[in-house]
Amino acid sequence: VNTDQSIEQSKIVFPTYEISGESIKEKKGRSSVFTMHFWWARKPLVVSRATILSLLLPAKDFNSKALKNYIGIDKTNKKRAYNFQVKEKYKFLKKLYKTRIGTETPTILDPFSGGGSISYEGLRLGLNVISADYNPVAYNIQKATLEYPKTQGIILYERMKNTIETLISILNERIKQFYPYNDDIIPQAYLYAWNVNCLYCSFNTPIVNNWVLKQKKVKGSRTYDWVYLVPKIQNSKIVYEIVYERCEKPNKLIPGNCIRGNAKCIKCNNIIPNQHIVKDISSKEREDLICIVGGRKEGKGKIYYLPTELDIRTIEDIQTLNNSIIDKYLPRSEMPNRIIASSKYLKQWYRLLNQRQRVFFSNFLDVALDLCKTNQNKYGEEWGKITATYLSLLIGKCVDFNNRGSSWAAKEGVRNSLAFRRPSMAWDHIEVNPFANIGSGTFHSLAKNLLDGIKTAVNDLDGTPGTVEVIFSSIFDLKLNSQVDLVLTDPPYGDDVQYSELSQFFYSWESFLLCEYYDYLPKRIPTDEDLSVNNTDRKIDFVKFGLALAFERINSFIKDKGQFALFFAHGKYDTWAFVIDALREGRFQINATYPVHTESKDNVIALKKASFMTSVIIYSTKRHHNNKHAYIEDLKDEIVQKIRESVPVYLKYGLKESDLSMVALGPALTVLTQYNEIKSISGPINFEKILDLTQKPLFDEILGIHGVADLDGATKFYLYSRISNIKELDHDSLQLLSKSLNFESSILLQNELIEEIEGRNNKIYQINNFKRKIEKNKEKSMIDYIHICMQLYLDNNYTAKQFWERTDQQSLNRETVKSVLNVLKLGFNVGKKLANRIDLEATIANEIIN
Ligand SMILES: C[S@@+](CC[C@H](N)C(=O)[O-])C[C@H]1O[C@@H](n2cnc3c(N)ncnc32)[C@H](O)[C@@H]1O
Repeated sequence: VNTDQSIEQSKIVFPTYEISGESIKEKKGRSSVFTMHFWWARKPLVVSRATILSLLLPAKDFNSKALKNYIGIDKTNKKRAYNFQVKEKYKFLKKLYKTRIGTETPTILDPFSGGGSISYEGLRLGLNVISADYNPVAYNIQKATLEYPKTQGIILYERMKNTIETLISILNERIKQFYPYNDDIIPQAYLYAWNVNCLYCSFNTPIVNNWVLKQKKVKGSRTYDWVYLVPKIQNSKIVYEIVYERCEKPNKLIPGNCIRGNAKCIKCNNIIPNQHIVKDISSKEREDLICIVGGRKEGKGKIYYLPTELDIRTIEDIQTLNNSIIDKYLPRSEMPNRIIASSKYLKQWYRLLNQRQRVFFSNFLDVALDLCKTNQNKYGEEWGKITATYLSLLIGKCVDFNNRGSSWAAKEGVRNSLAFRRPSMAWDHIEVNPFANIGSGTFHSLAKNLLDGIKTAVNDLDGTPGTVEVIFSSIFDLKLNSQVDLVLTDPPYGDDVQYSELSQFFYSWESFLLCEYYDYLPKRIPTDEDLSVNNTDRKIDFVKFGLALAFERINSFIKDKGQFALFFAHGKYDTWAFVIDALREGRFQINATYPVHTESKDNVIALKKASFMTSVIIYSTKRHHNNKHAYIEDLKDEIVQKIRESVPVYLKYGLKESDLSMVALGPALTVLTQYNEIKSISGPINFEKILDLTQKPLFDEILGIHGVADLDGATKFYLYSRISNIKELDHDSLQLLSKSLNFESSILLQNELIEEIEGRNNKIYQINNFKRKIEKNKEKSMIDYIHICMQLYLDNNYTAKQFWERTDQQSLNRETVKSVLNVLKLGFNVGKKLANRIDLEATIANEIIN
């Protein structure tokens, strides 16, 4: 190989915004491979593909137009990038791989592979792929999405389609009678409310979050089509009215009666405390069927109706059904009580299901196990396993959409319980009629998702030149036959997803099938080595230690000239510090860092998260020399110099806001990770110190380019926010900026340069423009004076001349004010282009200068 990987990595300029834009679109309309089964924190395929290519292509080719073509984000590709067929490009790609890596078919390893996005794209790009995970559910997802589609081809789709059709028709015969029609209306979902005996009036009151069944905007108007329930008490019994309205705000709608775990009795209005609710639900498990939503086979639209006598009778009958199959298959293990809040109401996994759901799912398993055997006999040994894999995915998917945590969304669809990332009991919840062939969440629609996914995966992976190996192993036990060229991965960073405990929700059902055919899979999901924090036996120190150990192992898996890149999506400074330490301890040297966004900024949660909460790709290579230690103070000049050199490149690529801070870390970390240990004369090194070191030169450089480097801190802050187009920022970012630019944040608050707006966990500040309120005689910084003059210019129709006279009176230097106005003017061109977003401040600045 004639390329030094570390130099190549540092020369790559990652197309952050193009990839981010595409990945946000991908999240909205995801690949059907993703919908085969739920997994947490799946990396968008386009991000995985682009990042793998950044490790494979020589920098000059990666940064070329051709790259967009390989990724599928150039104009010639009319589809979404994840649909783009990379196969057509192999001929060119192979040559480029050879140039940079030395082989036409490099090998890539993802040791924390989860849902398998990185491995999937690795295969599509023609690589040999090794994909490992500690979790049996993740392992099974990867068998289904990577290995079998690649090795079996389209026959896989055909056989699974037949098997699933047989499954549904047998279940149909066995239990369809438990889902009666209402004349010709097919029930799609049954809506329930938990029912608790009131402590004060002994009334059995339902508990719901809200009574809305439908809220859909009427096109071109401000009104909505509403459907909702109104509960009433008649003769000491509760009855429901279904109300249909087209209006802005519904007239009779009353709020739900659940208030943070407590509930208001519908009859006496007293508040029933949570403790009592827990006791009542856990001992009696009583729920009311309050409404049914269905439709007609030929007709459009949903029909809401109150349960018929037959519906009520069916539910009563099923409680007493004597069925040995239910006994055989119910998962009786307990939910982890600290992690799944509902476990205090419903202790065991099977209690997330009502009796009819238990009947359905136990029969599902019973028939599925038979079908695995049938396929094994009919098609050969391996097909028992293959069938178990897909039918286990299907049951997991169906349970997710059909348990006491699934709910009815007002846009008229079934919301799966893991839409909230962790299984939980919902106050108003639904039960799906699995046999309905209308609407979402039913067996038909979920089986279709699964089969579409198989077809797509076969189409993408069949005939790809590389090999695939899916391994069920913790990183700490992983053994490879030979070293790999690349490792790209997305490890857990002690984050809030406890993969092993949460996935037991799926595995409690799926294991019945999987353990029968994969004799090495455990009955329960192992938890000991899961590198996520559960705050009992796995605390943050365990993850810190584990990650360092994991990186050391990764070092041993990689060839000497190989590369290691990882995604890092944590906004907390201390997590950054331990990731950097873990890399240093694992003997890696960082060569570059690049941000990539996978959340849309329209997303409220994303907006309120720290702005540093973006995915960052950290590129590294093995550190071969053994530089003992250095003092951070001694490295300062080298770091500043490196940042200076790189800022113009970043700006040229249009990087903005905190993305700039992220890339500026790259050069600093390159210098710092050349050593085994970094010390500081002023106490221990932490990530804030590193940020301090990088942010000041970064901002000075950016402001210097605009000729405004030597101003007071508040003015610099405001101009920086203009240049980088920041309208809001969170507390951590404000602290960081205040340190780097040397100002007190209280000054900004006093004159409303910033103003606190509501934030979830972290305070969020909005940055105001020149129209803000500036208290008389409390002007402190240049930007305060300039803003006062701009307000006068606007209000009193001052001429530009008068503006300058006024700033002269305040003894402001004309040249400096001009530089400031030049920065404020930057929004002017944008304003001109987008007439509806004219930036008044920029327009005024422009008028005054001219
Ligand atoms: C962030 S997820 C990976 C997501 C993946 N990139 C995707 O696109 O779906 C991290 C994964 O690490 C796995 N994991 C946790 N501890 C592990 C260990 N000790 N060894 C291997 N895998 C582990 C978890 O099961 C989880 O699937």
